[in-house]
Amino acid sequence: MIFLAEPNLTGNERKYLNECIDTTFVSSVGAFVTKLEQEVADVVEAKYATAVSSGTAGLHMALRAGGVERGDLVCIPSFTFIATANAVAHCGAEPWLIDVSEISWTMDPFVLEKELEEKTYEKNGQWYHKETGKRVAAIMPVYTLGLPAMMDRLREIGEKYQLPLIADGAAAIGAQYNGGNIGSIADATVFSFNGNKTITCGGGGAIVSNNKELIERARHLATTARCGIDYEHDMVGYNNRMTNLQAAVGCAQLERVYEFVDKKRRIRDYYNSQLKDIEEVSLFPDADWAKSACWFSGVVLGRRYKVKEICTALKEKDIEARTFWKPVHLQKPYKHAQRSNMPVSERIWEEILTLPSSTGITDEELAYVVTTLKNILKG
Ligand SMILES: Cc1ncc(COP(=O)(O)O)c(C=O)c1O
Repeated sequence: MIFLAEPNLTGNERKYLNECIDTTFVSSVGAFVTKLEQEVADVVEAKYATAVSSGTAGLHMALRAGGVERGDLVCIPSFTFIATANAVAHCGAEPWLIDVSEISWTMDPFVLEKELEEKTYEKNGQWYHKETGKRVAAIMPVYTLGLPAMMDRLREIGEKYQLPLIADGAAAIGAQYNGGNIGSIADATVFSFNGNKTITCGGGGAIVSNNKELIERARHLATTARCGIDYEHDMVGYNNRMTNLQAAVGCAQLERVYEFVDKKRRIRDYYNSQLKDIEEVSLFPDADWAKSACWFSGVVLGRRYKVKEICTALKEKDIEARTFWKPVHLQKPYKHAQRSNMPVSERIWEEILTLPSSTGITDEELAYVVTTLKNILKG
């Protein structure tokens, strides 16, 4: 089977894991955790980082550290993995779902601004939702498939409404924004190191920021809000720190981050070049403001195709391919969430076909995927 996103563990992963076992440092304290934090910060050019047990935990801790409280609203795109919304809900807050832009599949700043303009009022420098009286507390853009959102415009809106930008960059390590790095284009940015991500720790995540206090608050919350080494805690904290075992794998992976991201981009280029001329097939978005980390590549299929049927046909030929995120406003737990109109999210999600994008995929396998898909589409 040619898998969609198979972890590439052919570097120093085993060696570093053995070091953890030999030293007995396997838990949430250890040299690899500190090393991983420094390396993630360096790779994305942020000043500070803290490593956590998952991307979801990272989003949760970053929102809390960024000031989100029970009963607040947080603006997120509806077209995202459900973890973005769940992290908001874990804070006791509610997502305010915003449609994405046609050109990037990231939060549409025009729609966001219109929603805020029409549906909020200001009191003492804070904005409240007119209908529910809930405070709006943050904007959480998602870097869809590794492509940074339109951060300049979102930053302007954030400044106007006094809202921090906490970015869900789960799959975006290695992405670029306006020719620079992505570590400081939001107040905090969260990465996932889940098994299907470009860099994996098995499970894990990291929060980066140039704001030292924010990172310290997030780390404190994720470490049971413990004060010192004795059993003294000053808040209701969480056990959300990354373990040394996870970090050992992550450190080995980070040694190859540029190689992996480069390979991801070559996979995207190959699929694009081979599939662009097929009738009723279009490509994943690209943007002139950013360079995607190309987490997953694939194509958008016209209405005459059923993506699920194409996936089944590919599976019969030993190729794993999948549909993509069902928007959050169509998910049971968030059916009643505040939201904008959703023409783009509702159109695109049923048309996306993600194709094998593992960093270990060979040229022969890529060619086989393309030939097989072309034959299936021909019918
Ligand atoms: C956009 C987005 N946000 C959050 C997450 C959650 O990350 P994790 O699985 O590490 O909790 C993911 C994971 O796939 C994701 O794609």
